Amino acid sequence: MSDSPSNPPASGPNGASAPNGDAAMSAAARAALSSPAAPLLARAAQLHQAGDLPAAVQTYRQAIVVDPSFAEAHHNLGAALRAWGKRNEAIASYREALRLSPDYALAHVNLGGALAENGELDDALEHLATGYLLAPERPVMARRLVNILRRTAPASVPAKVREALARLVRDPAVEPQTLEPCIVALLVEDPRVRGVLEALAGGEAPTIGEAGPPLYAALAESELPSLLGEAILTDSRVEALFAVLRAAWLEALDGGHAELLPEPGLLAALGLQLETVEWSWLETESEQARLAALKERLAEPAARVEEAAPSAALLVYALYRPLEAFAGDEALLALVDPEGGAAAQLLYRHLVEPAERARFAEAMPSTTPIRDRTSQSVRAMYEVNAYPRWRRIARRPGRKVERLLPELLPDLRRFQVPFDQQRVRILVAGCGTGRHACLTAQRFAFSQVVAVDLSRRSLSYAAQRARDLKLANLHFLQGDILELGGLGEEFDVVECSGVLHHLASPELGWRTLRGLLAPGGLMRIALYSESARQGVEEARRLIGELGLEPTPDGIRQARAAIQALPPEAPARLLAESPDFFSLSGCRDLFFHVREDRFTLPRIARALDELKLDFLGFELPSEGIRYSYRRRFPADPQQRDLARWAEFEQENPLTFAAMYQFWCQAKE
Ligand SMILES: C[S@@+](CC[C@H](N)C(=O)[O-])C[C@H]1O[C@@H](n2cnc3c(N)ncnc32)[C@H](O)[C@@H]1O
Repeated sequence: MSDSPSNPPASGPNGASAPNGDAAMSAAARAALSSPAAPLLARAAQLHQAGDLPAAVQTYRQAIVVDPSFAEAHHNLGAALRAWGKRNEAIASYREALRLSPDYALAHVNLGGALAENGELDDALEHLATGYLLAPERPVMARRLVNILRRTAPASVPAKVREALARLVRDPAVEPQTLEPCIVALLVEDPRVRGVLEALAGGEAPTIGEAGPPLYAALAESELPSLLGEAILTDSRVEALFAVLRAAWLEALDGGHAELLPEPGLLAALGLQLETVEWSWLETESEQARLAALKERLAEPAARVEEAAPSAALLVYALYRPLEAFAGDEALLALVDPEGGAAAQLLYRHLVEPAERARFAEAMPSTTPIRDRTSQSVRAMYEVNAYPRWRRIARRPGRKVERLLPELLPDLRRFQVPFDQQRVRILVAGCGTGRHACLTAQRFAFSQVVAVDLSRRSLSYAAQRARDLKLANLHFLQGDILELGGLGEEFDVVECSGVLHHLASPELGWRTLRGLLAPGGLMRIALYSESARQGVEEARRLIGELGLEPTPDGIRQARAAIQALPPEAPARLLAESPDFFSLSGCRDLFFHVREDRFTLPRIARALDELKLDFLGFELPSEGIRYSYRRRFPADPQQRDLARWAEFEQENPLTFAAMYQFWCQAKE
């Protein structure tokens, strides 16, 4: 990733904003205004923005000759050198900028980026963390730090990075799920945790009397408890560790050894996680027997609240089952607080949210009949397993369409649309539980979003989250895509992600949506790739052989069977997908009632028939784009589907996160 000069204009080739003009203007930027070399810096920045790197470098150097103490000129020289491929010289320039101005946030972040490219990750993280802590209000700082954190599994972490992590988990501009890999990686490297994991892997089961206290201390010192309520744990080892602890706590309670339990905050945080994943962890028969006894005990109201807090018995029960049966308990309801600590939030999720969702579901307006047989069975499935499970998205300001699209598709330059960007009409078709619809309503400025789905249960979850996010420009309706032609409305943007392949005829659904698109309107489509879904095929065979049903127990057993496969089995890879960790995710992943898959030639045919121009793929990592560029330098715009088909043949898992692409109506 290249970075930008920090003197005009305010944003560089990669969209990174510069400090100038920000409320928190850096010392370097302030100094720049009074430097005798300021005019040279401005000239150099213009050349830099125009892509004339040799001239920009030369002009920055002239500025430095005029004013050697000009930190911003050293920084911008670093940016230009880095863009030119002269990374080591760039690093030296950034370091000089920081020597002159140690609190120069952008220089820390850009130095961090260059060091990461050099493989110097520890040093990189330290600078990225410092930059973020100096200017946490600027989204680019968090984004760059998280990008490196999610790619690394640091064995040890300097204090600065720990401080930044503690802030990141509470930062509304950061997607909690992006922090999960790093926080888990740090936890499992803690010797107090590693020892227990090794013992478990070796078939030993350490007692909680011995292993508990150091483990609880390690957990309390990590950021994991804060994350457990907002992100899904996607590490099988850590899940297995918590499953062992859960069983041990239940046993301790049963045996009258409540002193072996951790503090209530940890129990409640783990309870939030289990509610999020819908209690997807396997249970043994002895756990089920103890649970039945615990349920009897909790029938007595006094057993549920102790010293004006939920009892340990109740919190352990919530690790296995919903507490809905106690929704009428006034003493518990008095402890509910959605903004409170983990226990108060847990009670809110168990006692208040389900009833509220039921009301939302009942009041949800219906916009079309649902007559198609496949639509009916797909609806029935999602009425049981609303998907996906999520709690929070990163808060970011909305952007105009012409600004947003090139951010999503970096090879799309100078993009224009014929519709009014001050009033963008958007349809999200098959919105599920609304995560994507909420992102859309937030990221498109001046938008009015209508989101449609078959499943009232999913829609009620979506409406609840949208209400929490205070998104007033998003409205939900129940309906079938196949029937939307009669809506009599036109949209500037239609998004349909992970939906069409569940229709009896995906192309028919696609054509219906195309009919709703305004001239020059945009579509974002996501479809399963045949070659990336081989693991799913194997999992479905295995489930069939085992005779497992899509019930909570059947799904738990299917998860265990997949986890037990050898690492080289294609289905084993599913255990690395976030969907694998919740019941509804698993239902969607390998227990679906209807799944079609696409190839790129099939997509190319549909685009042609529907008179849609392909604009480009959204890809989960820049690495894919980079590899494609190296493989097919003759397609700099990365829009040639025949070449992408060749690329996918050589790299069959390229589209494991689906073919996600944008296209535009030709007329
Ligand atoms: C895999 S989920 C995807 C949800 C959401 N788009 C996302 O990306 O998170 C598929 C959703 O499509 C909905 N769906 C499937 N067929 C549909 C149809 N014919 N009309 C409307 N919604 C449909 C399902 O009810 C389900 O909620």
